[in-house]
Amino acid sequence: MAIEVIGDRVFQLETANTCYQIQADRHNIVSHLWYGPKTGGQVMDYLQDYPDVGFAGSIADAGNDRTYSLDTRLQEYPCTGTGDYRISAAALDDSRGLDLRYEGYEILEGRPALEGLPHIRADHPGLQTLVLHLADRVTQVTCDLFYVVDEEHDAIIRSARFENQSDTPVRLDRAASLALDVHHGEPVDLITFTGRHNKERQHTRRRLEQGVVSAASTRGTSSHQQNPALILTGPDTTETSGWAVGAMLVYSGSFQAQAELDQLGQVRLVMGINPEGFSWKLAPQESFQTPEAVLIRSDAGLETLSLRFHQLIRDRLIPPRFRNRPRPVLINTWEAAYFNFDRKTILDIASQAADMDIDLLVLDDGWFGSRNSDNAGLGDWEVNEEKLEGSLQSLIEKVNAAGLDFGIWIEPEMVNEDSDLYRAHPDWVLKAPGRGPVRGRNQLVLDMTNPQVVDHLFQVFSGLLADNHITYVKWDMNRSLADRHSDHLPEDRQPEVHHRYMLGVYGLLNRLTDAFPDVLFEGCSGGGGRFDAGMMYYTPQIWCSDDTDPHERTFIQYGTSFFYPPDTMGSHVSASPNHQTGRRTTLETRAAAAMPGTFGYELDPGTLDNLEREEIRSLNRLYRELQPLIFHGRYYRLTRPEQGLALWEIADEDRILVQGLVYDTEPNALRRRIRLRGLDPEAVYEDRDQGRYTGQSLMTGGLLLPATSGSDAPVMVVLHRVKDAPADQPD
Ligand code: DGJ
Repeated sequence: MAIEVIGDRVFQLETANTCYQIQADRHNIVSHLWYGPKTGGQVMDYLQDYPDVGFAGSIADAGNDRTYSLDTRLQEYPCTGTGDYRISAAALDDSRGLDLRYEGYEILEGRPALEGLPHIRADHPGLQTLVLHLADRVTQVTCDLFYVVDEEHDAIIRSARFENQSDTPVRLDRAASLALDVHHGEPVDLITFTGRHNKERQHTRRRLEQGVVSAASTRGTSSHQQNPALILTGPDTTETSGWAVGAMLVYSGSFQAQAELDQLGQVRLVMGINPEGFSWKLAPQESFQTPEAVLIRSDAGLETLSLRFHQLIRDRLIPPRFRNRPRPVLINTWEAAYFNFDRKTILDIASQAADMDIDLLVLDDGWFGSRNSDNAGLGDWEVNEEKLEGSLQSLIEKVNAAGLDFGIWIEPEMVNEDSDLYRAHPDWVLKAPGRGPVRGRNQLVLDMTNPQVVDHLFQVFSGLLADNHITYVKWDMNRSLADRHSDHLPEDRQPEVHHRYMLGVYGLLNRLTDAFPDVLFEGCSGGGGRFDAGMMYYTPQIWCSDDTDPHERTFIQYGTSFFYPPDTMGSHVSASPNHQTGRRTTLETRAAAAMPGTFGYELDPGTLDNLEREEIRSLNRLYRELQPLIFHGRYYRLTRPEQGLALWEIADEDRILVQGLVYDTEPNALRRRIRLRGLDPEAVYEDRDQGRYTGQSLMTGGLLLPATSGSDAPVMVVLHRVKDAPADQPD
């Protein structure tokens, strides 16, 4: 049993390798006892030993017991106004405070539905859910805490559901998906993934000092700047040893994740919708469900943590129909032509791509309305037949006849002011009353809180997909939200706009992906501005970054790999010199950086010579051979890019791929040895030159990297497992 009740007040959640214990204490506070390795049946309440700490308030029920303070205790869902001065998970309006106490529990087989929000899927056996019922006696607000236990994946999936059982409305000003109190008696590091447009998810590790550190977005998207996934670790944790707890929010809107090191050296993590600009009205009998957040713990270092998240995302998050389906090698028109194309441009790209053995052509921005630059036409999704010199379907037929499938770019959530849609419905955008709209890329944000807008978009895009033979859609989103006002919502619901916006986006994604189950949707937000587990529920791959420079990409993909597996990362070979950085690199370098992902091209094939075309054909053959390994194998970060080389390993039962870039080649140096990981020590592997090595030798002595030359030199070594064969023996 994954969930066990010990006595009637201790709840133990066990996964394959971890144990989580909760106790409803003598004051009915839901306290946190333990999240760590299994305890051999020990209830870990003996660690709860608190002194009288000055200036720590005690709840009324504790009477004169000055050692009982919520300011010091480990709790499951701390609230404001209870004498706990640390960051809190939930708060109600004004100064009423929220004092949630335990009332009872339920254990459910499977998991309850989470309507309207992306979630860890229930379509497999083995899940169990603990629901703890909490209530505040004074405000009559109840809160159910959900703990979905996925034993196999070592995951505990948290969320909370509030209900107003009083007869007056209340406002929920803060409603986190999870709070986790951690105390290991040693310093704690926090790893976050930070950056900007064209430089997303840079790995950032720091030691926590007393106070609060936050990773947050107020942009209405999860953002390029911070990712809604972070890791707490011990100070000495490495890839292969030490403890690490990862928390990943299954949400794509404004979020806040805070970590506080308190006065006693305990750490509190709180994660959920960003409370800034959020306040939800709960009328009598109304309820509010938070997004969910996944907790996974490893006691064998960061690589094990990542492997567990990767497996969970592959098995339980991306749409099931894409789990075992090969994905196309594609060519995208954006960096090939930007807005400047006509029918001939597209057909030229298609025929050359077909000749290079590419599977699918994506017609990016600029095919509709008056969209010849990013200043006009967004929102007018009628095909520009003048520019395409005929109907879209007639173009698709030609592309198909050349031997390629056809994909298309859309940006449903946005509108240019210079568009027929905006002229007809100026009230369909988010805009603060009395102020000019905040523009981004010269576009405004459609009011996705308004069902009329969502219905209109569903009609438009379901028509597009029904009338045309489209097998792939790139769903883009190219600005941050700013105005927090919807003409559709009453005044007292305005602080709900950004979350309702996300619910509208999810609703549209749900309807379209349900109506067109065979269409592959790729997420995108100016590259990786919405690269998160929420979007992955609908879009199994997401364009990782608009920065296609292979050197830069190794940093971006390194950071991305801590939570998200390579099969979710859209990565393409682009032109040299690179359009974002001007760096010149070889095709092989660009391919080495793009291969641990969904692979494709982002260049004008007309600029390639015959040798390069031949090289692309063989790269595509190689990628197709490797795709099953890349999509299902175990991914190991062999180096940190700051070490001067970015190398990764992907291994399954039969093969090992060692790949990456050596940023600078040193003269007169020994060949580098790289120790591989996660192999069967007994197995024997063979490389292209028929050198044979035991798994043990590759993990202890290491693999000798091929000699490199120049900057950003590619490394690409494939080793095959040899059945029943000995390793090289001395002559
Ligand atoms: C941003 C995307 O990330 C690019 O790949 C491209 O699709 C442009 N938008 C088009 O406007």
